[in-house]
Amino acid sequence: MKKEEIFQTYKNCIMPTYTKMPYIFVKGKGMKLVDIDGKEYLDFFPGWGVGNVGYCHPAVMSAVRHQIGKLIHLPNNFFNPTQAKLAKEIIRLTFPGKVFFSNSGAEANEGAIKLARMVGAKDPSNPRYEIITFENAFHGRTLATVTATGQKKYQKGFEPLVEGFKTNVPFNDFQAVCAAVNEKTVGILIEVVQGEGGVNVASCDFMKNLRRLCDDKKMLLMIDEVQTGIGRTGKMFGYQNYDIVPDIITMAKSLGGGLPIGCMVAEKKIADILQPGMHASTFGGSPLVCKAALGVFKAIQKDKMLENASKMSPVIFEKLKKLQKNYSVIKDVRGAGLMIGVELNIKGKEVIEECLKEGLLINCTHDFVLRLMPALNVTKRQIDTMIRILEKVLRGVK
Ligand SMILES: Cc1ncc(COP(=O)(O)O)c(C=O)c1O
Repeated sequence: MKKEEIFQTYKNCIMPTYTKMPYIFVKGKGMKLVDIDGKEYLDFFPGWGVGNVGYCHPAVMSAVRHQIGKLIHLPNNFFNPTQAKLAKEIIRLTFPGKVFFSNSGAEANEGAIKLARMVGAKDPSNPRYEIITFENAFHGRTLATVTATGQKKYQKGFEPLVEGFKTNVPFNDFQAVCAAVNEKTVGILIEVVQGEGGVNVASCDFMKNLRRLCDDKKMLLMIDEVQTGIGRTGKMFGYQNYDIVPDIITMAKSLGGGLPIGCMVAEKKIADILQPGMHASTFGGSPLVCKAALGVFKAIQKDKMLENASKMSPVIFEKLKKLQKNYSVIKDVRGAGLMIGVELNIKGKEVIEECLKEGLLINCTHDFVLRLMPALNVTKRQIDTMIRILEKVLRGVK
């Protein structure tokens, strides 16, 4: 198909659920994307948080190639050795517990919400079901997760929403959380760094207090690691920056290196509550996606990507803070590891459009926050290129 035909086909045949930019990418390698005309772009937001190991990492490619010729899908009523291997690896990298595999982040969170309700239902004298979530949270687009998300712009028109959530509790405000808890509260669902919500980092005290509160009140601390997981913050999982162990975590995005896989991990004491027939997913944890995820973990370990992310994080922050000194349009630079937000005092749309024209892909969230999430093996030279282009663009909007 030629360019015009592709644009036209989207107009005629695909629901307009995404704000599209007029670019057509056909190839990717590492931090590089190539468009239909052969022009190269440096991608500092690969795959909307999916590209932690970059495009087409050899470890992922060879894992997928190897598996695709053997077996792609297997129903979950049989034993799947690749799934077993991945489950063991995820447990090794997190905490003693068990996993449930799904296909996406929303679905992983949906599973966590359902498990929490089952835990809450265990006490018939006081069944608990209410889940606390935060201002500017993002947990997905299914009806339950869009309810948990709490942001009106994602919910409007889809009412009635799902009952049993207390949303929009101020982030990093422990007193507000305490005030939101009641006898029906069964758990707290939180991102340690809010991604869509503007790259807001939970404080250490806040997370430790939440853990203590959950212990005191016998509530579940559920951490949505869909965006912060798989090395994004410099640790394999974001919660590992806080010296706490959650009861449930969810992950997706970069877990499959581009193939759709989600996962919920629940600690041992509650992991067997979901019994046969209570929860399921036809495609969840197929041999192909599990093999890809094993390839992702192999890539991270082999190429020492966590170490690189921790080394490159201060390099990017220092350079961005230097830009902030020279460009008053930058209000704040914040984040953790390689999950970075640059808050502007103007809308970021024009900035990302101009960056794209210059061959740099970045994202803007919450209208004003530029979001950078490069692959974990980003180099100093790529950081320099990103800074050079961003500075050129900011000079134009100054
Ligand atoms: C923190 C968080 N949770 C959940 C989701 C939903 O994931 P998915 O789009 O795979 O359903 C996202 C997606 O951006 C996310 O950032």
